[in-house]
Amino acid sequence: MCGIVGYTGGQQAISVVLEGLRRLEYRGYDSAGVAVVADGALASLKRAGKLANLEKALDETPLASATTGLGHTRWATHGPPTNRNAHPHLDQAGRVAVIHNGIIENFARLRAELEADGVAFVSDTDTEVVAHMLASEVAAGSGLADAMRAVCRRLAGAFTLVAVHADAPDRVVAARRNSPLVVGVGDGENFLASDVSAFIAHTREALEIDDDHVVEITPDTVVVTDTDGAQVPVRGYHVDWDASAAEKDGYDYFMLKEIAEQPKAVANTLLGRIGTGGKLSLDQMRLSDEELREVEKVVVIACGTAYHAGLVAKYAIEHWTRIPCEVELASEFRYRDPVVGRRTLVIAISQSGETMDTLMALRYARQQGARVLAICNTNGSTIPRESDAVLYTYAGPEVAVASTKAFLTQLIACYLVGLYLGQVRGTKWGDEIQAVVRDLSDLPSKVDQVLETMEPVRALARELSTATSVLFVGRHVGFPVALEGALKLKELAYMHAEGFAAAELKHGPIALIEDGVPVVVVVPSPRGRSVLHDKIVSNIQEIRARGARTIVIAEEGDDAVEPYADHIVRVPACPTLLQPVVATVPLQVFACEMASARGFDVDQPRNLAKSVTVE
Ligand code: M6R
Repeated sequence: MCGIVGYTGGQQAISVVLEGLRRLEYRGYDSAGVAVVADGALASLKRAGKLANLEKALDETPLASATTGLGHTRWATHGPPTNRNAHPHLDQAGRVAVIHNGIIENFARLRAELEADGVAFVSDTDTEVVAHMLASEVAAGSGLADAMRAVCRRLAGAFTLVAVHADAPDRVVAARRNSPLVVGVGDGENFLASDVSAFIAHTREALEIDDDHVVEITPDTVVVTDTDGAQVPVRGYHVDWDASAAEKDGYDYFMLKEIAEQPKAVANTLLGRIGTGGKLSLDQMRLSDEELREVEKVVVIACGTAYHAGLVAKYAIEHWTRIPCEVELASEFRYRDPVVGRRTLVIAISQSGETMDTLMALRYARQQGARVLAICNTNGSTIPRESDAVLYTYAGPEVAVASTKAFLTQLIACYLVGLYLGQVRGTKWGDEIQAVVRDLSDLPSKVDQVLETMEPVRALARELSTATSVLFVGRHVGFPVALEGALKLKELAYMHAEGFAAAELKHGPIALIEDGVPVVVVVPSPRGRSVLHDKIVSNIQEIRARGARTIVIAEEGDDAVEPYADHIVRVPACPTLLQPVVATVPLQVFACEMASARGFDVDQPRNLAKSVTVE
């Protein structure tokens, strides 16, 4: 949830750290703070609110020149987002500064012990205990890395911690447990961060850090140890995108840029996975054909937008493979004693690869003997590392909090997995797979086509920007699209929005419809199962008869819906199962424009953070 940066090297630490925080601000933006080690002392400044507040304060009161430092951008858990609760937190003597992402579950007990020893706390956070504990270990003669190991042994919960000490001018120490941390390896400088975007302008060489490992960086060394202090080997990787991919590139918002990047992102996710004759080969599908043939049930676990991708996957997987497929919110999965075993394939979908609910669900599934396949956008993140197999979506960095290109590429990855299972298990003939693969290959240009016709959708969003509620309905794969459209509007425009399976309206929600309520209807292709199309046309009539203003997403040439639509948004014709890829795009544009018309921050909606690394 929070963004973390640590630096030591030859540059001005404050510039490197602030640049990193700018790139990580999407992770949390309640408050921000920095600390540097200069002339045997710590200098620190922190401010409530967005990073801009801190930058302004630093302009007015610059910190001393230093080449070692750390910085933090916060998504509040313990204590409101005030100056005093902002990170870094210092010990009483001001010799140790620590920043933290996650939750220290036993902090109340630790705080009580420290207070009994006379320590005076200055914040409401769980993090502050760590600053005092580190200081006491160092005062007892430990080096900072030893102190970190000793402290971590006493902590319960999930955390990434990064610390500096006034007596160690060229050293930054960090530890992680169930929370993200990567190392950037530079030339005469090294970096620590929540994700690679923080240091991508300086180096594209990164190291993965495992749980319960402690890392100490100096300008020329990176030492990783386990909690007993034994050095452990580390895996390195090269980041295959550069700093420009994480820039706005002339767009007003990252979200607009990311919506526009979707044709390319979809194409990249397909790239290299379709062989001659449409035969699929999935890199990093480390499950053997035999293991896949043994699968008796598929369970998809995910949260938020990724969960909606999972709902679409169910239709495709069951249709193409005839394997029963369940889709479950990851946060609910392990608490209901699910029936999962060796013959269950669990698919964990996550853009960030760090969502704690999904990570915990996947660990539970593996403990029960299930095989886990991750669909993920972030190389080197925890979820793919802990899975048996992985299918990366190549969407590139997604910075806007609202997920867009990640969703479309998750859909593509789900289709690929469904078809691959069909191929391996022989439930689909080669030519059938080839036909779907051809349709998939057409999607980038179809998404492009949708993007070119979005001006009326933007105008409609502006016109409806004072509405108090918008409903979304769909059938079959249009139902998850409706849920996704509603989620986008809620998170960006802070507006009441709900998605329903169209036929469910009659079982209660139709009471919400009154004169002028906008209802977005996702209409399935009339060329697919015609019964679906006919049924939704009836549903449109039912809601229109009750005064709704109908906004109909329908494929080109579908004239049957015209008499019942107050507004029609045309999308290119696609096979029914693939329609979500094109039908979601207008809903993303609608929500983005609505938020901007209502004067809200599109990229950083209130109360949210990009990756949710606490349960
Ligand atoms: O990184 P993940 O895909 O695991 O994140 C899951 C959700 O938190 C995420 O999709 C969230 O719902 C988006 N902000 C929605 O736009």
